[in-house]
Amino acid sequence: MQSRSRSVNESQNTCGLAAFRNLRTRTMGVMELEGKVALITGGVGGIGSCTSKLFCEQGAKVVIADVQDDQGHSICNDIGTTHASFVHCDVTNEIHVQTAINNVVAQHGKLDIMFNNAGIMDSRRSSILQNDIAEFESVIRVNLIGAFLGTKHAARVMQPVQHGSIVNTASICSVFGGVATHAYTCSKHAILGLTRNTAVELGKCGIRVNCVSPYAVPTQMARKFLNLEDDDMLDNLYSNLSGVALKPEDVARAVLYLASDESKYVSGHNLIVDGGFTIVNEGLTMF
Ligand SMILES: NC(=O)c1ccc[n+]([C@@H]2O[C@H](COP(=O)([O-])OP(=O)(O)OC[C@H]3O[C@@H](n4cnc5c(N)ncnc54)[C@H](O)[C@@H]3O)[C@@H](O)[C@H]2O)c1
Repeated sequence: MQSRSRSVNESQNTCGLAAFRNLRTRTMGVMELEGKVALITGGVGGIGSCTSKLFCEQGAKVVIADVQDDQGHSICNDIGTTHASFVHCDVTNEIHVQTAINNVVAQHGKLDIMFNNAGIMDSRRSSILQNDIAEFESVIRVNLIGAFLGTKHAARVMQPVQHGSIVNTASICSVFGGVATHAYTCSKHAILGLTRNTAVELGKCGIRVNCVSPYAVPTQMARKFLNLEDDDMLDNLYSNLSGVALKPEDVARAVLYLASDESKYVSGHNLIVDGGFTIVNEGLTMF
């Protein structure tokens, strides 16, 4: 009995020590994505370029997929072309997505992380009567069909190796109404559905699927939608957390967590990065 309890204690200690060592190596600067290969759509934009840089800093090889070729090449040059490369890819075009993923595998031998992040927002309209079907469809095509195609072709190359992490950029609009256009809100609700449904299917093959849902982040998209001249103006938007403002780096860190083995048992999750914005009805709060 005594020896049994000693061995249990020893194994608990060993487990504790191993966990501590892991923590120490992390805090001592071991790279979280060492040896991983990632494809990032919309990698030229605010959130995508910041995530591309962070992934490379953390040891990954990153392929940036976007429709803005000059900016894409220039970001890769800034990061360093041994870590980052660019592929022209319109995420609404299945051949483009298929070819981009095939190129990643040809270049690096595998795809560990797919970040479906490309997105657009249509113009603000005060009434659905002013909504135009073509504009609605183009938002759905980029935001939803783009993520669907990225997930489909990532799964195609991840399934044979029974491993991979797919992260989709949703938004607080995946769980909240009334703060963006109808098309955008529909597309982001649908991203959450896509994330959950594919997490169920692909989990059986060892592939995790999650999404990240930011509040307003100072990028080209938010500046245009909110008509802001100056990023500091975003800091003054209603938030539930004082003294701190959401930046692309904060979203990139959340994506890093979901992409890396740090989240190895997290799947089908919507990681909301909003400082608590969506948990409170400001009109009814007692605080
Ligand atoms: N900025 C915010 O406040 C905010 C909040 C929540 C979610 N998001 C989401 O974050 C993601 C990134 O947006 P961002 O804020 O960095 O905006 P951004 O405008 O800076 O970047 C969007 C990127 O997507 C690319 N893109 C657009 N259409 C494409 C297509 N058909 N194929 C390939 N690439 C295409 C653009 O060229 C651009 O590089 C989007 O999905 C957006 O909906 C943004």
